[in-house]
Amino acid sequence: MNHIRITGTGSALPVRCVTNLELSKTVDTSDEWIRERTGIRQRYLASEGETTSVLATRAARIALEAAGIEAKDLDLIIVATTTPDMVFPSTACLVQAALGVSGSIAFDIQAVCTGFLYGLATAERFMRAGGIRHALVIGADTLSNLLDWNDRTTCVLFGDGAGAVVLSRSDHPGILSSHLHADGSHAGMLCVPGNVSKGAMSTASPFIHMDGQSVFKFAVKVLDEVCREALTANHFSIDEIDWLIPHQANIRILLSTARKLGLPENKVIITVGEHGNTSAASVPLALDVAVRNGSVQAGQRLLLTAVGGGFTWGSALVIF
Ligand code: UT7
Repeated sequence: MNHIRITGTGSALPVRCVTNLELSKTVDTSDEWIRERTGIRQRYLASEGETTSVLATRAARIALEAAGIEAKDLDLIIVATTTPDMVFPSTACLVQAALGVSGSIAFDIQAVCTGFLYGLATAERFMRAGGIRHALVIGADTLSNLLDWNDRTTCVLFGDGAGAVVLSRSDHPGILSSHLHADGSHAGMLCVPGNVSKGAMSTASPFIHMDGQSVFKFAVKVLDEVCREALTANHFSIDEIDWLIPHQANIRILLSTARKLGLPENKVIITVGEHGNTSAASVPLALDVAVRNGSVQAGQRLLLTAVGGGFTWGSALVIF
């Protein structure tokens, strides 16, 4: 039982689906612009009561069922999120309680869109240190709460959702390696400057601010680098990868990354059209969609990668 495998996946979306056309009735934009520049056709937006922990718990239940274990079997729960229900306690503690269990380790990770990969890598390292049989790693965000709906340069890009995986100890290889990076000197390129302080929001903005073009260039560069790092660490060539599952930010970023790596388009899992950018949820959500539609099969080699605010970026090479 020296290996750590993904034994179940799950995901959850809010009920309300908003198309580009619907958005263009209230925002100065068009379906054509959004589709051409981003590949996004629609996104799901959380309604009252559909908090990050609610979506995370729904995704978790599905992942547990797929793994064939119960919540009481979990030794570790990690939720990657930038949009917790509360300042504290952590969303992971809320999910644990909603699952009706107690006693396991539970904490949140904040690495924005790279959060799921940070969570996966952290769980993997915890498990390798011993004492943990099953871990739940969730990426969940309701970024719609941080959007200025008058700012067309950001509000059309994001959606809400959650994705979850169960990790279990196994005799068969699963996560081969994971690679994480950050560079805080780019903090201002993509951020929500505001915070809660002295009983009110601070005077800094509570909305997402983004230098879109700089983010685009940075993303294409580091995604290529960190994917190559994973390939090199495992002595794999790109031809040995069955699927690239990248953070679903913008179809042009996904396809540029694949092109730079020399991977054909038909080996890239693409869900950005249906979900928009769901931040920490995007990679596990795309993985779950691909598992359930039969694209991703047992034994295949997956290259997961993401980049996000911080700046943070990472990759993981996984045998599914
Ligand atoms: O997890 C990471 C999150 N962030 C990202 O992934 C963002 C990465 N960046 C991008 O995806 C792209 O830079 C954007 C999609 C944000 C923007 O695409 P772009 O091709 O870089 O467009 P641009 O910023 O150069 O803007 C082109 C034009 C501008 O008008 P002018 O100055 O040429 O007249 C914008 O004002 O498009 C205008 N524009 C829009 N028009 C209609 C910007 N947003 C919109 C919009 N609808 N929603």
